[in-house]
Amino acid sequence: MRLLLVSGNEGKFREFREALGRRGHRLEWKRFPYPEVQSASLDEVVGEALAWLRARLGESEPFMIDDSGLFVPALNDFPGVFSAYVLRTVGNPGMLRLMEGVGDRRARFEARLGLWSRETGQRIFPGRVDGRIGTEARGAGGFGFDPIFVPEGRDRTFAEISVEEKNSFSHRGRAVAALLDFLEGRAGR
Ligand code: IMP
Repeated sequence: MRLLLVSGNEGKFREFREALGRRGHRLEWKRFPYPEVQSASLDEVVGEALAWLRARLGESEPFMIDDSGLFVPALNDFPGVFSAYVLRTVGNPGMLRLMEGVGDRRARFEARLGLWSRETGQRIFPGRVDGRIGTEARGAGGFGFDPIFVPEGRDRTFAEISVEEKNSFSHRGRAVAALLDFLEGRAGR
């Protein structure tokens, strides 16, 4: 199967390519900027973006998009839907400063994977991974908040593990596995 990812984020593209490749599918990548509505809900952001893109890309070819964020309960789930803005402005050093003196360092990544195809209509697949904010940035791999996120039950950050390992339990890895189960199930009917 061939799938199209619409995203401006190369880190996401690398992860999707690995996850699809492992299951024998091929990924195409289209950089096509789309507006993200101001909303506290990732589902709403993805739903609106899918509708906006359908009107511009045409409805002949299936495509998918990913919206994700880092949620910190001790900060009332900030940065959440503002994750991209926080990375662009204060980055990981700013997040670490915000967490100074905070005892509860729990955090989670959430992803919503939006799919459009003529056969299925709009579908949204969620994924989540729990962990904590480290006390320093570590690792050169990955992207975004990866150097400061330590998944539950592990010592290494997302930036210190391979794309394959991250995909095996990350928010994005879980969402894409659900999407592929769905599409492969339909293809096998
Ligand atoms: P959006 O999904 O494009 O709205 O961006 C969410 C922000 O969270 C981006 O700036 C990403 O870099 C960041 N982000 C999303 N997923 C991950 C991840 O798996 N690791 C690290 N940062 C992430």
